[in-house]
Amino acid sequence: MISKNTIDKVYETARIEEVIGDFVQLKKSGANFKGLSPFTDERSPSFMVSPVKQIWKDFSSGKGGNVVAFVMEHEHFTYPEAIRYLAKKYQIEIEETIQSDEQKEAADERESMYLVSEFAARYFSEILWASAAGQAIGLSYFRERGFTDETIKKFGLGYCLDEWDGFTKAAIDKKYDLKYLEATGLTIVKPTNEQATAKTFDRFKGRVMFPIHSMSGRVLGFGGRILTQDKKAAKYLNSPESGIYNKSKVLYGIYMAKQAIAKQDNCYLVEGYTDVIQMHQSGIHNVVSSSGTALTSDQIRLLSRLTKNITVLFDGDAAGLRASIRGIDLILEQGMNVKICTFPEGEDPDSFSKKHSLEVLSAYLERESQDFIQFKASILVKEAANDPVKRAETIRDIVGSIAKIPDAIQREVYLQSCAQIMDISEQVLYNTLAQVSKKEANAKGVAQKNGAAAEERFKVVKPETPEVEKLNVQWILEKKIIEILLLYGNHKATFEDLILASNEAGELVLTPKKVEQKVFEKVYLDLQEDEIELTQDHFKGIYFKLIESFNQSENFDLTVFIRNQSEELSAAISSILMEEEKYSLGQWEKKDIFPKNKALGVSQLVTETILSLRCFLIKKRMGVMQETTRDIEKDHREVKEELVSYLQLYTLLNKKLNRVLS
Ligand code: CTP
Ligand code: MN
Repeated sequence: MISKNTIDKVYETARIEEVIGDFVQLKKSGANFKGLSPFTDERSPSFMVSPVKQIWKDFSSGKGGNVVAFVMEHEHFTYPEAIRYLAKKYQIEIEETIQSDEQKEAADERESMYLVSEFAARYFSEILWASAAGQAIGLSYFRERGFTDETIKKFGLGYCLDEWDGFTKAAIDKKYDLKYLEATGLTIVKPTNEQATAKTFDRFKGRVMFPIHSMSGRVLGFGGRILTQDKKAAKYLNSPESGIYNKSKVLYGIYMAKQAIAKQDNCYLVEGYTDVIQMHQSGIHNVVSSSGTALTSDQIRLLSRLTKNITVLFDGDAAGLRASIRGIDLILEQGMNVKICTFPEGEDPDSFSKKHSLEVLSAYLERESQDFIQFKASILVKEAANDPVKRAETIRDIVGSIAKIPDAIQREVYLQSCAQIMDISEQVLYNTLAQVSKKEANAKGVAQKNGAAAEERFKVVKPETPEVEKLNVQWILEKKIIEILLLYGNHKATFEDLILASNEAGELVLTPKKVEQKVFEKVYLDLQEDEIELTQDHFKGIYFKLIESFNQSENFDLTVFIRNQSEELSAAISSILMEEEKYSLGQWEKKDIFPKNKALGVSQLVTETILSLRCFLIKKRMGVMQETTRDIEKDHREVKEELVSYLQLYTLLNKKLNRVLS
């Protein structure tokens, strides 16, 4: 971890106008600077930087913040990546907090592997541009392929000489350790029989080189293409998995594409290196490749930092299409919107974009991109046209895909459009979806019981705004409380409370007591007992209005309630409910929102949520009190006494919570 000291130094040293000036042309305007927003395609400047306050604000996108926030937003860095970037710019040495020897060693090893890889990328590129063989073989190959010099440089392409160990020797010469050359797979080490020293070989001998970059631009590994017509050797060879290269976690081209992906709010997914590069050169910059395999969930997570929209581009030959389609359900499951675009017979994105102008290419992508579900429905329906058995299978198949979509409204829209495409009644599709969802829910249900299930839910709730992410525990719990009230507020449930009572021996012990209560009463009274108020404005507003309406009438109607709220509050309520939708079986089953056999579950959910919130707040309060006692100038007897009583309460609540969870 980066030390606090280093972080402070970075904040003290970095000048926001200098940092942003590297990316945006800034003009002085009074005390501030002005420029064109780097986040939208605007013509008149609405991007402001204040050197005095050291903040920036982009009025066209609404984004803004300090210097680190800018680097994170613009370069799509994580927080530590942004700090490292700024430290490098200002030549601040990064101090790491104390790590165990093992952690230190692992970090050092990875750093050494990065350095070796970066050296290799530089070396291969130098060979390509500056050596006779590099120019004659590698450079002329790329140029013949139609890559411009600018493109070749931008992607850092290179050449590895057709010698056994030319690269390895050069690296050793420069004092790079063979250990890391081997660990990154750049060098293959073959032990010899006798006592002689091991033999070393360049893995990529005689190949043109494609460096693979991380999101932040570090070299992780390579792809190498053979240039001879050798039938035995693989056309493409990739770096093996290593401490820094994990195939399922990287996307080729992401570093060059990230800005465009965020700006266009869409990402094209292609098969390989050459597709990415050729399309990029043609002017479509928001394109990445997943190394010829289906996207993994790690790759989707990486992309979802940039956009929710993916367009998968398929080659002209239909053979692989069926198989590839399967993998796409995973993308749907992660809440991404997926489109498909196929190319004419015999064309791939590489050949197609080489042949056509940017205008033709973009028009083609625009016109031919089809929504994935509709695309799938239409090809399946053709295949199963006159075969009833296959048709049934097809319906389940397509509904299976729809079931993966987390958003309920979107699911419904898809069901309707698929009913049309497949010429089938919506009701049949609804029923099938109910079956499929139930099966999946059951399968999952076994794995995650009680507390685990609730925890699982907390984890996947995605807060709407980034600021909110920081205080997630409290935020999530408050939201949960609103959710509970909206869905179950007016229902009766049996709650178990622990009270202190004397046993036969006359000792005070915690004794369980059952009380029947309405859910909203339980929530309200428990929160009041600790004088807890919700802190999020929206939640607080909804909370009081809900309690009021439950108190006023026996018959609470959710839709009426929502209708009577301000636009802002009803939007907030909708998004809470929408979130909840993801985890319920399906809308049709929700009409009876509170199935009888769930009664116990709800009582547990309520108790658990409230106790968690109380524990969380008490802990926070105790933290503040402990902080005060550090002031050595003062006498803290009173605070300390209070602290002790809080601690007792905390222990008591924790006991209850453990009881509920077990
Ligand atoms: N690819 C790969 N491994 C292979 C073949 C292909 O990883 N054995 C990937 C590469 O990333 C390549 C893309 O798939 O960029 C397209 O494949 P292909 O057209 O066969 O590669 P090209 O280099 O374009 O070969 P050719 O000039 O023959 O079209
Ligand atoms: Mn090709």
